[in-house]
Amino acid sequence: MLKKIVLVLLVGCLAWAYQATRPPPPKICGSPGGLPITSSRIKLRDGRQLAYAEHGVPKDMAKYKIIFAHGFGSSRHDASIATSETTEQLGIYLLTFDRPGYGESDPDPKRTMQSTALDIEELADKMGLGQKFYVIGYSMGGQVVWGCLKYIPHRLEGAALIAPVVNYWWSGFPKNLSAKAYYEQYPQDQWALRVAHYIPWLTYWWNTQKWFPASSAIARKPKFSHQDLEIMSKFAGRQSSKHVKSNEMHVNSGFVTCCQKQTLPTQQGEFESIHRDMMVGFGSWEFDVMEIKNPFANTAGTVYLWQGDHDGLVPVTLQRHIVGRLPWIQYNEIAGGGHLFPYADGIREAIMKALLRGEKLSTVDS
Ligand SMILES: *[C@@H]1O[C@H](CO)[C@@H](O)[C@H](O)[C@H]1NC(C)=O
Repeated sequence: MLKKIVLVLLVGCLAWAYQATRPPPPKICGSPGGLPITSSRIKLRDGRQLAYAEHGVPKDMAKYKIIFAHGFGSSRHDASIATSETTEQLGIYLLTFDRPGYGESDPDPKRTMQSTALDIEELADKMGLGQKFYVIGYSMGGQVVWGCLKYIPHRLEGAALIAPVVNYWWSGFPKNLSAKAYYEQYPQDQWALRVAHYIPWLTYWWNTQKWFPASSAIARKPKFSHQDLEIMSKFAGRQSSKHVKSNEMHVNSGFVTCCQKQTLPTQQGEFESIHRDMMVGFGSWEFDVMEIKNPFANTAGTVYLWQGDHDGLVPVTLQRHIVGRLPWIQYNEIAGGGHLFPYADGIREAIMKALLRGEKLSTVDS
């Protein structure tokens, strides 16, 4: 009898534990009783919908066409990488999209680096961008640009990686170098990354349970540098002024988000948006970025990588190693720059001008 009771309790406990680790199903946009669709979307090869937004000068009048990949916890509403003055002055058409599972784009449970690169190629084709276009990625969106360099290099006119997030398990890193950078992260982030890498099925539970601190990025308290805090307070000042435009972006502890009125990037659920982002970004990659071939070996075009040397989220030591292995990358290290360095005065403009003019730059000071 006792044995039976123990067995029943044990099975009950396991069933409960299993349930607790399972994410709830995503709330798909446009499903019956689900979230409304407010964006323009394209249908992808596997039936998924990809939401996008257009910014800058009209496509037909544009001199340059750029697709931007947003960062962690952000969405298509983030077009802040080019100010409206810059898009006007240079003639830029800027296309942003909700990465799969974010905003109003359908989740992609089979998401890989390659699938997102192909999503971008399809988006460019359905939007009639022509044979070639530019790509820019910020932070987690930088990983998307690595994917484009690997899988759709023939479609690129140029690329900019801005504080692109590294994966400590890329095989090209010397073990001691990546270990040193890894152990300099907050302990809770070391754990969140360990879970995402080694036991991805626990990612949802790990980042929603209340027993241990979860990822600092999810808690919106990452390792910000002095410059990051300055930039956030500068933008906070602007936002409280009466002149703030309703579609102006916010640079705050949620990194770069947008306008109060817009829908939440994680409205379909955190699992298929930010958790999937961690699982894919810090999982096992299908390739090593340090083995990517120069996409512009025989054609015009330049790849830029911009990094602040005080970035608390993305270790500069690893970035230096990557560009040391890929000498065809134009590397610009910003002295004193944190993770939000693009929002320091003049930097976004410098990034854009360098990319579109194919300039070979030396170090830019912020
Ligand atoms: C890692 O090991 C190599 C070779 O043993 C050494 O030259 C290098 O300085 C080490 N790097 C760090 C960060 O410890």
